[in-house]
Amino acid sequence: MKVISTEKSQILAARIATALNTSIVDVKFSRFPDGELYLAAGKTDDETIIVGSVTDSDALVQLLLLIDTCENSKNHLVIPYMGYARQDKRFRSGEPISARAVARVFAKGVEDCITVNIHEPAVLKYFDVSTTNLSLAKDMGGCIGSMDLSDPLILAPDDGALAFAQDVASAGGWDCDHLEKTRLSGVEVKMAPKKLCAALRSVIIVDDIISTGGTIATAANMLYQQGAAEVYAACVHGVLIGGAYGHLKASGIREVFCSDTIERGCSRLSAADCIVTALRG
Ligand code: R5P
Repeated sequence: MKVISTEKSQILAARIATALNTSIVDVKFSRFPDGELYLAAGKTDDETIIVGSVTDSDALVQLLLLIDTCENSKNHLVIPYMGYARQDKRFRSGEPISARAVARVFAKGVEDCITVNIHEPAVLKYFDVSTTNLSLAKDMGGCIGSMDLSDPLILAPDDGALAFAQDVASAGGWDCDHLEKTRLSGVEVKMAPKKLCAALRSVIIVDDIISTGGTIATAANMLYQQGAAEVYAACVHGVLIGGAYGHLKASGIREVFCSDTIERGCSRLSAADCIVTALRG
Protein backbone atom coordinates (compact mmCIF):
# COMPACT_ATOMS: atom_id res chain seq x y z
CA MET A 1 0.00 0.00 0.00
CA LYS A 2 1.19 3.53 -0.80
CA VAL A 3 -0.12 7.06 -0.33
CA ILE A 4 -0.31 9.58 -3.16
CA SER A 5 -1.49 13.17 -3.00
CA THR A 6 -2.29 16.31 -4.91
CA GLU A 7 0.06 19.28 -4.63
CA LYS A 8 -1.86 21.05 -1.90
CA SER A 9 -2.35 18.03 0.39
CA GLN A 10 1.27 16.88 0.55
CA ILE A 11 1.83 17.46 4.24
CA LEU A 12 -1.33 15.73 5.43
CA ALA A 13 -0.64 12.87 2.99
CA ALA A 14 2.90 12.45 4.38
CA ARG A 15 1.49 12.38 7.93
CA ILE A 16 -0.99 9.69 6.88
CA ALA A 17 1.80 7.66 5.24
CA THR A 18 3.97 7.93 8.37
CA ALA A 19 1.13 6.85 10.64
CA LEU A 20 0.42 3.88 8.34
CA ASN A 21 4.12 3.08 8.20
CA THR A 22 4.03 3.14 4.42
CA SER A 23 5.62 5.25 1.72
CA ILE A 24 4.41 8.16 -0.34
CA VAL A 25 4.51 8.14 -4.13
CA ASP A 26 6.76 10.81 -5.60
CA VAL A 27 4.70 12.97 -7.97
CA LYS A 28 5.99 15.76 -10.20
CA PHE A 29 3.41 18.45 -10.91
CA SER A 30 3.74 20.96 -13.72
CA ARG A 31 1.78 22.58 -16.52
CA PHE A 32 1.74 22.36 -20.26
CA PRO A 33 2.58 25.63 -22.00
CA ASP A 34 -1.14 26.33 -22.50
CA GLY A 35 -1.74 26.12 -18.74
CA GLU A 36 -3.21 22.62 -18.61
CA LEU A 37 -2.17 20.59 -15.59
CA TYR A 38 0.27 17.74 -15.95
CA LEU A 39 1.59 15.23 -13.44
CA ALA A 40 3.83 12.20 -13.51
CA ALA A 41 3.76 9.74 -10.62
CA GLY A 42 6.50 7.40 -9.48
CA LYS A 43 5.88 3.72 -8.92
CA THR A 44 2.45 3.02 -7.47
CA ASP A 45 1.29 -0.10 -5.66
CA ASP A 46 -1.58 -2.56 -5.87
CA GLU A 47 -3.42 -0.60 -3.16
CA THR A 48 -3.31 3.20 -2.96
CA ILE A 49 -4.65 5.89 -0.68
CA ILE A 50 -5.27 8.97 -2.79
CA VAL A 51 -5.39 12.17 -0.72
CA GLY A 52 -6.56 15.50 -2.10
CA SER A 53 -8.56 18.41 -0.77
CA VAL A 54 -10.71 20.18 -3.31
CA THR A 55 -9.53 23.66 -2.45
CA ASP A 56 -9.90 24.96 -6.00
CA SER A 57 -10.48 23.80 -9.57
CA ASP A 58 -6.81 22.90 -10.12
CA ALA A 59 -6.85 20.65 -7.06
CA LEU A 60 -10.00 19.00 -8.40
CA VAL A 61 -8.35 18.27 -11.76
CA GLN A 62 -5.16 16.98 -10.09
CA LEU A 63 -7.27 14.58 -8.04
CA LEU A 64 -8.97 13.28 -11.20
CA LEU A 65 -5.58 12.85 -12.87
CA LEU A 66 -4.23 10.95 -9.85
CA ILE A 67 -7.22 8.59 -9.86
CA ASP A 68 -6.57 7.90 -13.52
CA THR A 69 -2.85 7.38 -12.89
CA CYS A 70 -3.70 4.75 -10.27
CA GLU A 71 -6.10 2.84 -12.53
CA ASN A 72 -4.42 -0.51 -11.89
CA SER A 73 -4.64 -0.18 -8.14
CA LYS A 74 -7.34 -0.72 -5.52
CA ASN A 75 -7.92 2.93 -4.59
CA HIS A 76 -9.22 4.51 -1.40
CA LEU A 77 -10.00 8.19 -1.89
CA VAL A 78 -9.57 10.70 0.96
CA ILE A 79 -11.03 14.16 0.36
CA PRO A 80 -10.10 16.07 3.54
CA TYR A 81 -11.83 19.27 2.38
CA MET A 82 -14.48 18.88 -0.23
CA GLY A 83 -15.03 22.14 -2.03
CA TYR A 84 -18.24 22.58 -4.00
CA ALA A 85 -20.13 20.90 -1.12
CA ARG A 86 -21.98 24.13 -0.31
CA GLN A 87 -23.84 24.05 -3.63
CA ASP A 88 -25.61 20.90 -2.50
CA LYS A 89 -28.95 21.66 -4.09
CA ARG A 90 -30.46 23.68 -6.87
CA PHE A 91 -31.29 26.88 -5.04
CA ARG A 92 -32.42 28.66 -8.24
CA SER A 93 -33.49 27.34 -11.58
CA GLY A 94 -30.57 26.91 -13.97
CA GLU A 95 -28.03 26.08 -11.28
CA PRO A 96 -26.11 22.79 -11.19
CA ILE A 97 -25.98 20.61 -8.10
CA SER A 98 -22.22 21.11 -7.98
CA ALA A 99 -21.60 18.74 -5.06
CA ARG A 100 -23.31 15.96 -7.02
CA ALA A 101 -21.33 16.71 -10.17
CA VAL A 102 -18.05 16.51 -8.25
CA ALA A 103 -19.01 13.43 -6.20
CA ARG A 104 -20.06 11.51 -9.29
CA VAL A 105 -16.74 11.90 -11.09
CA PHE A 106 -14.66 11.10 -8.01
CA ALA A 107 -16.52 7.86 -7.39
CA LYS A 108 -15.30 6.45 -10.71
CA GLY A 109 -12.07 4.53 -10.20
CA VAL A 110 -12.12 4.26 -6.40
CA GLU A 111 -13.37 1.57 -4.03
CA ASP A 112 -14.49 3.89 -1.27
CA CYS A 113 -14.16 7.42 -0.05
CA ILE A 114 -13.54 9.38 3.16
CA THR A 115 -14.50 13.02 3.71
CA VAL A 116 -13.88 15.16 6.79
CA ASN A 117 -16.54 17.44 8.25
CA ILE A 118 -18.17 17.84 4.87
CA HIS A 119 -20.24 21.01 4.91
CA GLU A 120 -23.49 19.22 4.08
CA PRO A 121 -23.57 15.50 4.94
CA ALA A 122 -26.54 15.01 2.57
CA VAL A 123 -23.96 15.29 -0.23
CA LEU A 124 -22.62 11.83 0.71
CA LYS A 125 -25.54 10.23 -1.10
CA TYR A 126 -24.15 11.57 -4.39
CA PHE A 127 -21.06 9.35 -4.20
CA ASP A 128 -21.66 6.08 -6.00
CA VAL A 129 -19.27 4.28 -3.62
CA SER A 130 -19.35 3.77 0.13
CA THR A 131 -18.36 7.11 1.74
CA THR A 132 -17.64 7.91 5.38
CA ASN A 133 -17.66 11.42 6.76
CA LEU A 134 -15.31 11.90 9.73
CA SER A 135 -15.41 14.64 12.34
CA LEU A 136 -12.40 16.37 13.85
CA ALA A 137 -14.46 17.67 16.79
CA LYS A 138 -12.61 15.49 19.32
CA ASP A 139 -9.22 16.39 17.83
CA MET A 140 -10.12 20.07 18.01
CA GLY A 141 -11.16 19.53 21.64
CA GLY A 142 -7.77 17.92 22.31
CA CYS A 143 -6.01 20.87 20.72
CA ILE A 144 -8.00 23.34 22.84
CA GLY A 145 -7.21 21.24 25.93
CA SER A 146 -3.49 21.66 25.23
CA MET A 147 -3.85 25.46 25.25
CA ASP A 148 -4.20 25.57 29.03
CA LEU A 149 -7.15 27.95 29.03
CA SER A 150 -9.07 28.29 32.24
CA ASP A 151 -12.69 27.16 31.87
CA PRO A 152 -13.14 28.08 28.16
CA LEU A 153 -16.56 28.70 26.67
CA ILE A 154 -17.04 26.97 23.32
CA LEU A 155 -19.36 28.87 21.03
CA ALA A 156 -20.93 27.95 17.71
CA PRO A 157 -21.51 30.92 15.40
CA ASP A 158 -25.10 29.77 14.81
CA ASP A 159 -27.43 26.99 15.88
CA GLY A 160 -26.55 24.97 12.75
CA ALA A 161 -22.98 24.60 14.03
CA LEU A 162 -24.05 23.76 17.59
CA ALA A 163 -23.78 19.95 17.30
CA PHE A 164 -20.13 20.28 16.18
CA ALA A 165 -19.41 22.77 19.00
CA GLN A 166 -20.99 20.42 21.54
CA ASP A 167 -18.75 17.59 20.36
CA VAL A 168 -15.71 19.87 20.69
CA ALA A 169 -16.80 20.96 24.19
CA SER A 170 -17.46 17.40 25.37
CA ALA A 171 -13.74 16.61 24.87
CA GLY A 172 -12.97 18.80 27.90
CA GLY A 173 -16.34 19.00 29.65
CA TRP A 174 -16.49 22.71 28.83
CA ASP A 175 -19.52 25.00 28.60
CA CYS A 176 -21.05 25.31 25.16
CA ASP A 177 -23.58 27.61 23.56
CA HIS A 178 -24.36 29.20 20.22
CA LEU A 179 -24.50 32.78 19.14
CA GLU A 180 -27.89 34.25 18.47
CA LYS A 181 -28.51 37.26 16.25
CA THR A 182 -31.08 39.82 17.34
CA ARG A 183 -32.02 42.62 14.95
CA LEU A 184 -32.07 45.85 17.00
CA SER A 185 -32.95 48.13 14.09
CA GLY A 186 -32.81 48.27 10.28
CA VAL A 187 -29.02 48.55 10.44
CA GLU A 188 -28.07 47.19 13.87
CA VAL A 189 -27.71 43.51 14.76
CA LYS A 190 -26.64 42.13 18.14
CA MET A 191 -24.86 38.79 18.47
CA ALA A 192 -24.61 37.18 21.90
CA PRO A 193 -24.53 33.67 23.35
CA LYS A 194 -28.11 32.36 23.55
CA LYS A 195 -27.97 31.18 27.18
CA LEU A 196 -24.58 31.86 28.74
CA CYS A 197 -22.67 35.04 29.55
CA ALA A 198 -19.30 35.66 27.85
CA ALA A 199 -18.07 38.25 30.39
CA LEU A 200 -14.57 37.49 31.75
CA ARG A 201 -14.43 34.19 29.83
CA SER A 202 -11.98 32.76 27.32
CA VAL A 203 -14.27 32.20 24.38
CA ILE A 204 -13.49 29.90 21.47
CA ILE A 205 -15.75 30.20 18.44
CA VAL A 206 -15.66 26.93 16.48
CA ASP A 207 -17.02 26.21 13.01
CA ASP A 208 -16.52 23.79 10.16
CA ILE A 209 -15.31 26.48 7.73
CA ILE A 210 -13.90 29.97 8.07
CA SER A 211 -14.24 31.52 4.65
CA THR A 212 -14.20 35.35 4.69
CA GLY A 213 -14.15 35.34 8.49
CA GLY A 214 -16.92 37.95 8.42
CA THR A 215 -19.29 36.13 10.76
CA ILE A 216 -16.63 35.40 13.36
CA ALA A 217 -15.02 38.88 13.24
CA THR A 218 -18.40 40.51 13.90
CA ALA A 219 -19.09 38.03 16.70
CA ALA A 220 -15.67 38.68 18.28
CA ASN A 221 -16.27 42.45 18.33
CA MET A 222 -19.56 41.92 20.10
CA LEU A 223 -18.17 39.39 22.57
CA TYR A 224 -15.46 41.86 23.58
CA GLN A 225 -18.18 44.51 24.07
CA GLN A 226 -19.91 41.99 26.34
CA GLY A 227 -16.75 41.70 28.44
CA ALA A 228 -15.13 38.53 27.09
CA ALA A 229 -11.55 38.23 28.39
CA GLU A 230 -10.20 36.78 25.15
CA VAL A 231 -11.65 35.36 21.95
CA TYR A 232 -10.16 32.59 19.79
CA ALA A 233 -11.43 31.18 16.49
CA ALA A 234 -11.00 27.59 15.36
CA CYS A 235 -12.25 25.72 12.33
CA VAL A 236 -11.68 22.46 10.54
CA HIS A 237 -11.26 23.96 7.07
CA GLY A 238 -9.33 27.22 6.92
CA VAL A 239 -10.55 28.46 3.55
CA LEU A 240 -9.52 31.98 4.63
CA ILE A 241 -10.28 33.98 1.50
CA GLY A 242 -9.85 37.70 0.89
CA GLY A 243 -7.51 38.42 3.79
CA ALA A 244 -9.70 36.58 6.31
CA TYR A 245 -6.84 35.74 8.69
CA GLY A 246 -5.75 39.38 8.94
CA HIS A 247 -9.37 40.49 9.25
CA LEU A 248 -9.88 38.14 12.20
CA LYS A 249 -6.66 39.20 13.90
CA ALA A 250 -7.58 42.86 13.37
CA SER A 251 -10.87 42.22 15.14
CA GLY A 252 -8.87 41.34 18.27
CA ILE A 253 -9.03 37.56 18.02
CA ARG A 254 -6.10 36.22 19.99
CA GLU A 255 -5.46 33.18 17.84
CA VAL A 256 -7.01 31.71 14.70
CA PHE A 257 -6.34 28.08 13.96
CA CYS A 258 -7.52 25.29 11.71
CA SER A 259 -6.66 21.72 10.76
CA ASP A 260 -4.46 20.57 7.90
CA THR A 261 -7.39 19.57 5.67
CA ILE A 262 -6.29 22.81 4.01
CA GLU A 263 -2.60 23.31 4.72
CA ARG A 264 -2.03 26.70 6.30
CA GLY A 265 0.49 28.39 8.54
CA CYS A 266 -2.18 28.28 11.26
CA SER A 267 -2.93 24.54 10.84
CA ARG A 268 -2.54 23.56 14.49
CA LEU A 269 -4.28 20.23 14.39
CA SER A 270 -3.97 17.35 11.98
CA ALA A 271 -6.67 15.19 10.46
CA ALA A 272 -4.10 12.40 9.95
CA ASP A 273 -4.86 10.30 13.05
CA CYS A 274 -8.60 10.45 12.50
CA ILE A 275 -8.22 9.46 8.83
CA VAL A 276 -5.78 6.67 9.62
CA THR A 277 -8.11 5.21 12.26
CA ALA A 278 -10.90 5.16 9.66
CA LEU A 279 -8.65 3.63 6.99
CA ARG A 280 -7.68 0.84 9.39
CA GLY A 281 -11.39 0.18 9.87
C1 R5P B 1 -21.62 28.23 6.82
O1 R5P B 1 -22.65 27.62 6.82
C2 R5P B 1 -20.33 27.69 7.32
O2 R5P B 1 -20.49 26.74 8.32
C3 R5P B 1 -19.48 28.82 7.84
O3 R5P B 1 -20.11 29.37 8.98
C4 R5P B 1 -19.32 29.88 6.80
O4 R5P B 1 -18.80 29.32 5.62
C5 R5P B 1 -18.39 30.96 7.31
O5 R5P B 1 -18.36 31.97 6.36
P1 R5P B 1 -17.54 33.29 6.61
O6 R5P B 1 -16.20 32.92 7.17
O7 R5P B 1 -17.45 33.90 5.23
O8 R5P B 1 -18.32 34.15 7.55
